[in-house]
Parts: sequence; structure tokens; C-alpha cells
Amino acid sequence: SAAEKGGYAWFMQKEIAEQPRALADTLLGRVDESGRLSLDEMRLSDDELREIDKIVVIACGTAYHAGLVAKYAIEHWTRIPCEVELASEFRYRDPILDRQTLVVAVSQSGETMDLLMALRHAREQGSRVLAICNTNGSTIPRESDAVLYTHAGPEVAVASTKGFLTQLVACYLVALYLGQVRGTKWGDEVTAVVRDLAAMPEKVEKVLEAMEPVRELARSLVDARSVLFLGRHVGYPVALEGALKLKELAYIHAEGFAAGELKHGPIALIEDGLPVIVVAPSPRGRSLLHDKVVSNIQEVRARGARTIVIAEEGDEAVVPYADHLVRVPASPVLLQPLLTTVPLQEFACELAAAKGFDVDQPRNLAKSVTVE
Ligand code: G6P
Repeated sequence: SAAEKGGYAWFMQKEIAEQPRALADTLLGRVDESGRLSLDEMRLSDDELREIDKIVVIACGTAYHAGLVAKYAIEHWTRIPCEVELASEFRYRDPILDRQTLVVAVSQSGETMDLLMALRHAREQGSRVLAICNTNGSTIPRESDAVLYTHAGPEVAVASTKGFLTQLVACYLVALYLGQVRGTKWGDEVTAVVRDLAAMPEKVEKVLEAMEPVRELARSLVDARSVLFLGRHVGYPVALEGALKLKELAYIHAEGFAAGELKHGPIALIEDGLPVIVVAPSPRGRSLLHDKVVSNIQEVRARGARTIVIAEEGDEAVVPYADHLVRVPASPVLLQPLLTTVPLQEFACELAAAKGFDVDQPRNLAKSVTVE
């Protein structure tokens, strides 16, 4: 009913709007003002956390994209090597696992069979498994050694939104906590980022307040046959997630690419009028990367693409090459996906609705896939 949907036409819209709250709830009680984290609930002792020499993140679908972002954060803040793998591939290739490996299993529902089978395999090899999950008492946390719950509240729409953003937060918390426990050369940065994390719900709210032009753009693209998404560094998994959302909801062919790979193949796809959505990296800090992505935007536009650029406030370099510009507030580089994902969710949701499709129950998909 309309009441259940909080006045929105679709659960997905309601769940997108709930994201600031979901993020705040996931941080609640875990972060203090001084920038210290307490995650005792995880049931992994500091000694166990100090023994870890490798991290493997496993997940499916949207949760896999959270894992891809986690790799950047984990390796940067902890210096522990981290791999990310689709759960459905992981156990069939004889992965190298032992007691020093921490396997992080990310799942909104906690019932995804591919992931359950993968984590069972990891535990048989003696690895410790930490679940990041949104559903209390579901199978995946029950079968794991430890769990960190996301507090997104129930997610009804098949396409994950607040589930994804809270998974990102949980991954950041794990990475930062490992940094805190083990000590890292980024000690000061870790404390600063913990404080910045607490400011993210408000920034997501700012992004949400500015979404009408994105919805208008989506409605203007109902006849698009294909849409490309480009990103780099943590913007790359965001591009993959934007493409996945568009496929799932609007049944439009969509691909996400690492912007640096454009010249190695995808640029051949660019033709007149093709919408290309670019997640621009922050112009601060890693400015070399930013310059390269600005060149990519120029290159695709010169070949006729219609460029839609998601960029940080104050990033003026992208302005001349953006047919449409979507602004997000400035944030630490690794936290940017919490902001840049939101316009892509809105875009897919609105486009699917404009095509008259069932946004909450897309064809052929299930909210939780309990078969392998
Ligand atoms: C299904 C859903 C996706 C979801 C994936 C993983 O395919 O349609 O939206 O990302 O499962 O779900 P999980 O509950 O494990 O996060």
C-alpha cells in the first residue's frame, strides 16, 4: 500500500530516501567523537585480528561492488593484501586459504546460496569468516565466526540501495578498525576518516535534495538503447553498480568500465548520442587521476557521446566537457562512493518508472537467491 511505501510510488524510492538514516544507524554506537571505533560485537579478539595476513572479500551482485570498494580501503588503511571475488567463482578454483586469512562475506539478506557455499568452503580450510549482513539471525551470520550487522532496516525493493550504502560503511568500519588495532602508518588519517565518516549521512542528504535534474535527465533517456558508465579508483566499482542498476531495473544494455581501459577497447563503442556517465574522481589528492579522467570525458565527447558527469563541488575542470553535470559534496576520496552512487540509483529508478516497469520487482530477478 501507499502507506507502507511512506507516500512514495515505489519501495525503492523510499529506500533511497532512507539512506542518510540507514548510514547513521549503522554508525551508531560504533564511532566516538575522538575518532575511536568500538566493534567488540564482532567477536574477533584483537590478537586474532593481529594474526591476519590476508583478507578475501566474497559476495554476489551489488554486495560484490561493495567488496570492490572495500579492497581500496582495506589495503590503503591496513596494508593487508585484500582480494575480492564473486562467491559463485570463489570455491570452484581452489583458493589459497588458511587460519591467517580473514574471509569477509557481504550479504544484505544473509541467505544467498552462492555465498553460503563459499563461506562453508572457507571455514573448512580453517579461515575465519566475518559476515557483513543486514538480516539478524539469517543463515550467513549464523554460520560465520563473527558478524558486523548493517542497520539499514528491512529492504523490500529487489534492487539494493540502502543495503549497499550500509555495506560500504560496514566495510570502512572493518578496514579502519583493523588499522586501529594493528597500528598503521596512516594512524592520523584513520582517526580523521572515522570523524569524516560520521559526517557522511548529512552529505548523502545534500545529494538527495539535488536529485530532480537527475530524474529529469532519466526521463529524457527512455529511448536509450545502451548506456556506458566510466569510473576510476573507487569510482570504478560505482560505475559497475550504476550499470547493474540500469540493467536490473530498466532492461537497458549497460556496461561499467575502468576509465583507464577506455583506450584498450570500449572507446570503439562510442557513437553519436550515446549516453556516457562518468564518475569523476576527486580533484584533490590524486589529481593525476583526475586529469586523466577529464581527458577521457573529452575523448568520448569528441566522438559524439552525450556526457553525464558526476563530480565533486568545486571541480571546475570537468565543466567544459559535461553535457550534464551532477554535483556531490566534497569528501575523503575513499568515502566518495557513498555519495556518487546515489544519483545512479535515482537515475535507474526513474528511468525504469518512466518506461512503465515494475521498479520494485524487476522481471526474472529475486530479492534473495537461495539456489546455487
Ligand atoms: C540478488 C539480488 C541483488 C543482490 C544479490 C546479493 O541477486 O537481486 O540485488 O545484490 O542477490 O544479495 P545479498 O542478499 O547476498 O546481498
